[in-house]
Amino acid sequence: MSTLIVVGAQWGDEGKGKIVHLLGKKADVIVRYQGGNNAGHTVVFDGKKFVLHQIPSGILQPGRRCVIANGVVMDPWALREEVRFLESQKIKVKGRLFISAWAHLILPYHRYLDALRESGKGKIGTTKRGIGPAYSDKVGRVGIRLADYMDPAAFKELVEQNLQAKSPLLTSLVSLDDLRKETFKDYDDLRAFFAEYIAETPTLLADALAKKKNLLFEGAQGTMLDVDFGTYPFVTSSNPIAGAACVGSGVGPAAIDEVLGVVKAYTTRVGDGPFPTELKDAFGDQLRERGQEFGATTGRPRRCGWFDAVVVRHAVRINGLTRLALTKLDVLEGVDPIRVCVAYKVDGKIVKEFPASRRAQATAEPVYKNLPGFSEPVKGITEYKKLPKAAQAYVAFLAKEVGVPMALISMGRSRDETILVDKKFRWIP
Ligand code: IMP
Repeated sequence: MSTLIVVGAQWGDEGKGKIVHLLGKKADVIVRYQGGNNAGHTVVFDGKKFVLHQIPSGILQPGRRCVIANGVVMDPWALREEVRFLESQKIKVKGRLFISAWAHLILPYHRYLDALRESGKGKIGTTKRGIGPAYSDKVGRVGIRLADYMDPAAFKELVEQNLQAKSPLLTSLVSLDDLRKETFKDYDDLRAFFAEYIAETPTLLADALAKKKNLLFEGAQGTMLDVDFGTYPFVTSSNPIAGAACVGSGVGPAAIDEVLGVVKAYTTRVGDGPFPTELKDAFGDQLRERGQEFGATTGRPRRCGWFDAVVVRHAVRINGLTRLALTKLDVLEGVDPIRVCVAYKVDGKIVKEFPASRRAQATAEPVYKNLPGFSEPVKGITEYKKLPKAAQAYVAFLAKEVGVPMALISMGRSRDETILVDKKFRWIP
């Protein structure tokens, strides 16, 4: 038996979808433990491109069980749509997807409140999927969990309490009557839909552990979007970091064996907020085009910049990363020199660790080390030793600088465009 948590070590969009799909071959159960349909995990499978938002990308591995655990916030309509889409693509979902009775729901008023906040001064560039308001309700103890959604009397009462309490904000956008209609739209049909998938997921996971199954926990977003350890307040409202896999699924910390951090060979971020190595020039635009850096959920262009070892070192510590997976190395073909940020200058002082203060985060100036580029194509190479020497040196430098070994290198979206570096990593298929 083995348990593995896969997390994003930057600002999300590191390419976790493909890595989870690849390693998911060894998994019996794949678990999403936080976030909601703000995520967009892109996987190419059987020559088709799938973008999954709420369902673990492990669903594309035939026969595996997938869990949407308690730490996730779910949009019922969007989730039904995702299941229908998968079924239309002949992916079997029934009997393989288990949705936690303990998970909270995203309801239409959460989307309105998200949009309202994004229209004002406190804007942070959210995906406008209602994520922040749904998590606020959860910790504010007025959220609605799937178990209570399934009980019509309880659901009606909870919705009414929420609408009344939130009406001063909501009625500037929509009437309560219209909102009631939206909230109860397709209610019977959605309850029937959820009845097929609702489960006591903590028990299911405990059983799987007792039977020595392999469990893979799939993080969404990334460490720098973590509500505790990211670039607050420009973060998401959950904890994408590894520690949250336990809280978000009801599995105890002693059950976790490995934590794999996924990093892109450069850095990207969507939405507003600090990004010390951002390239606001033509080369940044070039990286975006070459790496096709456009949001999988919102289509927004991603901001692009150099690899930031300060960020990844922070991720290594916060997540307790044991190994790394490097993605999109091919996008750097022909770039010379390749720059890596190894420290920041803040108020004239050199800092090696990511600072907490929002002013320091916003004003940090990167200190770069230049590395020789490689012009030979790397896409299609499947052995580390066959990579150009400069590409090998770049990979080795990153691993040394952040202090964690590289387990695999991915180029391109398909599974065979991968170099398995560490043969001892037992999750390698
Ligand atoms: P929210 O999660 O929609 O509240 O958005 C908060 C911040 O997280 C914004 O900067 C979003 O762009 C960012 N974000 C949320 N989900 C993702 C993701 O899956 N990938 C990258 N950025 C994300």
